[in-house]
Amino acid sequence: MAKSSASDPSATEPSSELVARVAALREEIGEHSRRYYELDEPSIGDAEWDDLIRELRELEDAHPELITADSPTQTIGGAPSTAFAPVEHRVPMMSLDNAFDIDELRGWVERLERRLEGRTIDRYICELKFDGLAVSVRYENGRLVQAATRGNGRVGEDVTDNVRTIAAIPHELAGSPPAVLEARGEVYLPIATFDALNADLAARGEKTYVNPRNTAAGSLRQKDSAITAGRGLAMWAYQLGEVQGGPDFTSHADTLAVLEELGLPVNPEARVLGSFAELEDYINSAIERRHDLPYEIDGVVIKVDDLGLQRDLGVTSKAPRWAIAYKFPPEEKPTTLIDIQVSIGGKGKATPFAVLEPVFVGGSTVAMATLHNEDQVKVKDVRPGDTVMVRKAGDVIPEVLRPVLADRPADRPEWVFPDVCPCPVGHALTREGEDAAHYCRNVTCPLQLDGWIEHFASRGAMDIEGFGERTVRLFTENGIVGDIGDVYAIDFDEVRKLEGFGETSVQNLSAAIEESKQRPLGNLLFGLNIRHVGGSGGELLAGHFGHLDRLAAATEEELASADGVGPIVAASVHAWFADPGNLAIVEKLRAAGVNFDGPEPIADVEQVLAGKSVVVSGSLTDFSRDEAANAIKSRGGKSPGSVSKKTFALVVGADPGASKVTKAEEADVAILDEAGFRQLLETGELPT
Ligand code: IVH
Repeated sequence: MAKSSASDPSATEPSSELVARVAALREEIGEHSRRYYELDEPSIGDAEWDDLIRELRELEDAHPELITADSPTQTIGGAPSTAFAPVEHRVPMMSLDNAFDIDELRGWVERLERRLEGRTIDRYICELKFDGLAVSVRYENGRLVQAATRGNGRVGEDVTDNVRTIAAIPHELAGSPPAVLEARGEVYLPIATFDALNADLAARGEKTYVNPRNTAAGSLRQKDSAITAGRGLAMWAYQLGEVQGGPDFTSHADTLAVLEELGLPVNPEARVLGSFAELEDYINSAIERRHDLPYEIDGVVIKVDDLGLQRDLGVTSKAPRWAIAYKFPPEEKPTTLIDIQVSIGGKGKATPFAVLEPVFVGGSTVAMATLHNEDQVKVKDVRPGDTVMVRKAGDVIPEVLRPVLADRPADRPEWVFPDVCPCPVGHALTREGEDAAHYCRNVTCPLQLDGWIEHFASRGAMDIEGFGERTVRLFTENGIVGDIGDVYAIDFDEVRKLEGFGETSVQNLSAAIEESKQRPLGNLLFGLNIRHVGGSGGELLAGHFGHLDRLAAATEEELASADGVGPIVAASVHAWFADPGNLAIVEKLRAAGVNFDGPEPIADVEQVLAGKSVVVSGSLTDFSRDEAANAIKSRGGKSPGSVSKKTFALVVGADPGASKVTKAEEADVAILDEAGFRQLLETGELPT
C-alpha cells in the first residue's frame, strides 16, 4: 500500500499530518471491521487489512501518546463482543500455525522429529479445514449445557441458545458419555443452503450475502435465536476440549470415533496416514475436490495422531506444535479485462475498477475487481482488452493479478486515468497528496452524496442511530435528502410512504436525528467530511476555536497557528469554508439548531488532566456522556471507553458497567462519584 509522508514514524513529535493519518487509519479500519464483524460483508482483502493495521501499529509504537483504548490495535483480534455473555474456556481454544506450501509442511515435520530426538512419527491424521467458525459445545452428564465461540481463545461468547437451534448438534449425547465432554468443531453453512438463502434474498430484491463463512458467523451471533434457526447451520466436530470421567484416549482417530458414537457430526474425510507422500496426496486430492464438496474448505489440517506424542510436543502460546493448517493457494483464472472504469466513494475518492468478462473463480463468479488507484494500474500494467489473471484475495475479494502479455497486441494503448468525474456534472478529478488517490471535490456530486451522508450520521460524527447505508440510499433515491444539511429538515410524512417505515421506526429515527443536534462541535467537524480532518482533528479544531463561526472565519495562517494543526490541514479547512456550497450547508445546519459551540477554547482551560486517562461509566446528573468526555479532553486528558492499568480514574454515575467497575477494582484504579469528578476537573488531583 502506498504510504503518505504523514506515515513516517521516525519523527519524535507527532505532526498534525501524523495525527490526522492515525485518525484516518482508525476510521478506515473501523469501517472495514464494522463491515466484516457486524455486517459480515468484508470490503477489503486480508493483506490490505494487515497493511492498515501494521501502519497504525507502527505509528502508535513510535508515538505511544497517541494510543487510545478504543484504537483498533487495542480492540481488534477476536475480542469478545459485549452482546453475548463471556464464557471462559477451561481448556483454551487454540489456533493453528499455517503452512503455505509443501516445503513449509516438510519443514514442520522435520522440526517435530528433531524435537522428538529421533523418535519417528508414524501416524498423522489429515482432516479438511472447514471454513466456518470455531465453537465449543459442552455436555454435562450427556446434556448440552453450553456453547461458546472461540473469541480470543481464552474467553468466547455464550451462544448456547443459538447453537441449540442447529439440527446437527444433539441436545443429548447417545451411548454412555463422560461426565463432562467439550467437543470443539466448526459451525458452517452448507453451500446449497447459502445459495438458497441468497436466491431468496435476490428474489425479494434484497442484498445478498458475500460468502457462507461470514453468513455462518453472522447467523450464529444473532440476538434472536429464531433467526439462527432459520438459517440451516451445520457443524463438524474435530477436537476434544475438557473431558472428565471419559475413556483413556490414545489417538486422535479414537477421539473422532468416540465423538461420532456419541452422536456428534464427524466429517467422513479424515484419514490416518503414514508417509509424507501420503500427506501430499491427501492435500492434492483435497485441492482437486475442493469445489465439489457441499461445504467450503480452505485447507487441510494435519495432526499428529498419537496423543502421547502430542503431549510430548506440547503447545506454543498460540497454537499446538502437533498440528498445522495447510492453506490452499488461491485459485487463479484467466479472463478478459473489458474496461477500466472509475467509481466515486463517499469522500469523493475516485477508485479505478476492472470490468471483467465474468469468470468463476474461488467458488463464485467475478465480474468486477478494484484496482485501487492510478499507481496500481501502472504497476500491474493492465490495459482494457488484455487477458488478465484473476483470483480472490483472502478468498473473498476479487483481485486482478497481472496481464497475460503473450496475448497482448503490440499497439494496445495504456489506460489513462480520466480527468473528469463519471457523474453527469463531470467535475474535475484531481490527484492529491502522495497517496496516489484522485478525488472529485464537487460536494454536490450525486455519486458521493450517499457516502457523505452515511459518514455524517456515523459514530464519531453525528452518531444518528438507524441512519445507515440502506436508509440513506432509500432517502437519497426518493429525494428526501439532497445534502447533509437536509438531514435536519426531513419530511417524515414522505418517509412514512416508504416501504418498511412503520410509525415506530419513523419516531425512533426522528428522535435520533433531533438528539444528534447536540453533538459536540468536534463530532460535527468530523462529520463535515473536510479532507484531512478526522475525529481527533475535529476535536482539536473545536477546542482551539471554540465555535464553528470562529473556525470558518479563520485565515489559513490563524488555522495553521493552532496547536497540532499543520499547513495541510489548515489549507484544507480554509478551502472547505471558502466553498459557497459548503457554506449553504452550514446555514441549513445553523437554521436547524445544530450545536456550533465548542468546548471552552483549550487555551483558556488549565490542562490539569494532561496525560491522564479518565473513564466515565453510567449516567451522571449534570453531564451528558459527551459533556463529560469534553470536560476531560479540554483539560488535556483522555476519555477512553474502557478501563486499563493506565486509567487514572473511573467515574461512576447511575448504572455503571459492572465489568468496568470490576476491572478498576482489580487494577487498583481510583473510583469516583460525580462530586469527586467535579473536584478532579478542578484540580486534576484525586479527592482525598
Ligand atoms: S483443530 C488445537 N481441525 O481452523 C487445534 N481446526 O486456523 C484446534 N478449523 O481455529 C483446531 N477445520 O476454527 C482443527 N479439522 C479442523 C479444522 C479446524 C477448521 C479451524 C478452527 C481453527 C482454525 C485455525
